[in-house]
Amino acid sequence: MELKLDAVTHRYSDTIVLRDISLEIPSERISCIVGPSGCGKSTLLRLLGGLEQPSEGAVRQVGAPPAGCLNALTYIFQDFALLPWRTVEGNVALVLEDHKLADREAIIADVLARTRLTDFAGALPKQLSGGMKQRVAIARALAVNPAVMLMDEPLSALDSQTRELLMDDLVGLWTKQPFTAVYVTHNLAEAVRLGHRIVVLSRRPGEVCEIVEIDTPLTERAHGDPTLDAQQKHLWGLMRDEAAAADAELLHV
Ligand SMILES: Nc1ncnc2c1ncn2[C@@H]1O[C@H](COP(=O)(O)OP(=O)(O)O)[C@@H](O)[C@H]1O
Ligand SMILES: [Mg+2]
Repeated sequence: MELKLDAVTHRYSDTIVLRDISLEIPSERISCIVGPSGCGKSTLLRLLGGLEQPSEGAVRQVGAPPAGCLNALTYIFQDFALLPWRTVEGNVALVLEDHKLADREAIIADVLARTRLTDFAGALPKQLSGGMKQRVAIARALAVNPAVMLMDEPLSALDSQTRELLMDDLVGLWTKQPFTAVYVTHNLAEAVRLGHRIVVLSRRPGEVCEIVEIDTPLTERAHGDPTLDAQQKHLWGLMRDEAAAADAELLHV
């Protein structure tokens, strides 16, 4: 399933947050959205997920969700959003509870194995590191076999080493079984490591500045790769002035 935005403009009372955004989210690709703080990235994700309706334009779903999909548009947030009193397995099981599934146990076992959490099935969130908590959130999202994963700064609460490990995990997961994701980040290193396409937004009101396609397979995007470094520099070139201006604007609000 693909998502399409047709000339979407969004306002909060008098303030235009996003302006005239037309965009395609291709299936089985990771689309990164980058842009300065406050430019409307999270708003764009809420519009894509149907949590808000655009003031103008339309958000369309094209094609059908995959077989066995229990929740077409599934979010992953920065703060993990786990229930502290439930075990790892219990947190994953939660999203399957409303469904009478003979193979519920098999789904749980599969997603815990894919996220390397099998040995921690009985642990409580407070016993886990931040990286493991986010892996539980990813396992929970995978359990519903979503059409599109909507990820809002999923690694931003983690330290840089844990971020690296989780990026490797996401590359591994995608390579074994490609999924469709919209990945919002302010971190350009994450964008060039994980994005098949990178959508650069301007400062508020967010408009599409440029769309960068990166053809290098995810598994070949090694650290210090000169092509990726050049792409990251190019992205920073696009964002730098916008970020500085956005920063100055926030000071005067
Ligand atoms: N529910 C809301 N009501 C009013 N203003 C909002 C709301 N959500 C976000 N905004 C404003 O819209 C702008 C974009 O916010 P957001 O989408 O969170 O940006 P980003 O995720 O890029 O930092 C910001 O100026 C923010 O203050
Ligand atoms: Mg945000």
